[in-house]
Parts: sequence; structure tokens; C-alpha cells
Amino acid sequence: MIEITEGSGLDVAAIMPVMNDAFDPEFGEAWTAAQCLSTLAMPGGRLLIAKNGGATVGFALSRGVIDEEELLLIGVLKTAHRQGIGQKLITKLNQVCAGLSRSVIFLEVRNGNSAYSFYEYMGFQTVGRRASYYKSIDGSYHDSITMALSL
Ligand SMILES: CC(C)(COP(=O)(O)OP(=O)(O)OC[C@H]1O[C@@H](n2cnc3c(N)ncnc32)[C@H](O)[C@@H]1OP(=O)(O)O)[C@@H](O)C(=O)NCCC(=O)NCCS
Repeated sequence: MIEITEGSGLDVAAIMPVMNDAFDPEFGEAWTAAQCLSTLAMPGGRLLIAKNGGATVGFALSRGVIDEEELLLIGVLKTAHRQGIGQKLITKLNQVCAGLSRSVIFLEVRNGNSAYSFYEYMGFQTVGRRASYYKSIDGSYHDSITMALSL
């Protein structure tokens, strides 16, 4: 059974195997443990963790400022995709944010990332596009799609 809990900097080591598995190295989108820790050290930094019988299988890293939350990263172990874990993470994030009177969750997703369909499924809508926002390891550029979910 999947359980979603709020974590802290103490849990960053446990999410790193998911980070390194979930993100395609071609795009260099995985964060280092130090990057995660520095976000969690900021006011409003938040980590949600998905566990299956004690094993960490997914996470969501976000940051809230006043009434807005930004979803920075979400990842699920490849072997556990399409089992509703990402959905449970976003549902929990929505609940936490609603409890904090956030009015909107924003995110950026690389154009072409299949996560776009996941976000649409979760109710996010496209609100903008930034040209050549991401640079891949091979030097190619990709647009970023800005999405928002009103709470
Ligand atoms: C995006 C991600 C977190 C989704 O997690 P997940 O646990 O597989 O998602 P869910 O099982 O909750 O999916 C819910 C619904 O979203 C949609 N969806 C999820 N992944 C999808 C995909 N790859 N392609 C199309 N639709 C998808 C489907 O409608 C799915 O329902 P279904 O399986 O019944 O058809 C996961 O694919 C991932 O870790 N990707 C790599 C990391 C990444 O790119 N993160 C986003 C940028 S930070």
C-alpha cells in the first residue's frame, strides 16, 4: 500500500535513488542532494515522499511563497510508473496547499516530456511557454511549458 508523508532534509538521502532512476540523464534534469537540501532549507520548502511498505518509490519537491506553490520536481521509480503514485503525490500536495491557503500551484515542464500528459490528467492547464528554457546534455535546447492548477 502506498503511503504519502511529509519529509525533511533528513529524507533527501532516501529519495536520491528515485531521483537518479526516474529522470532521463539525457536532459540533466535530476537534482543533486545538495540542491534538494538547499531548497528544503528555504522558507516554504516542502518534500512529499511516497513509500511502499517502507521503501521510497516517489517524491515531490515544492516551494511555497505567500499564496503560490511551485512544484519543482516530481519523480517515481520507473518500475512503479502508471500505478497511481504520482497522482497520490499531487493529491496530497493539493491538500497540503489548500490547508495553507495557497491559491495556485505552478510548474515548468520540458516540451516533449510525457509528464505533460500526467499534469494535464491532474488538472493543470498550460498558461505559458518559455522558448529554449532547458538545455540538454547534448547542447540542444527545449522550450518550457508553464502550467498552473487553481486550488
Ligand atoms: C511524471 C511521473 C511522476 C508520473 O508518475 P506516475 O506514478 O507514473 O503517474 P500516475 O500513475 O499517477 O499517472 C496518472 C495518470 O497520468 C497520466 N500519465 C502518467 N504518466 C504518463 C505518461 N508517461 N504518458 C501519458 N500519460 C501519463 C495517465 O493518464 C495516468 O493514468 P493511467 O495510467 O490510468 O492512464 C513519472 O512519469 C516520472 O517520474 N517521470 C520522470 C520524471 C519527470 O519527468 N518528472 C516531471 C518533471 S519534474
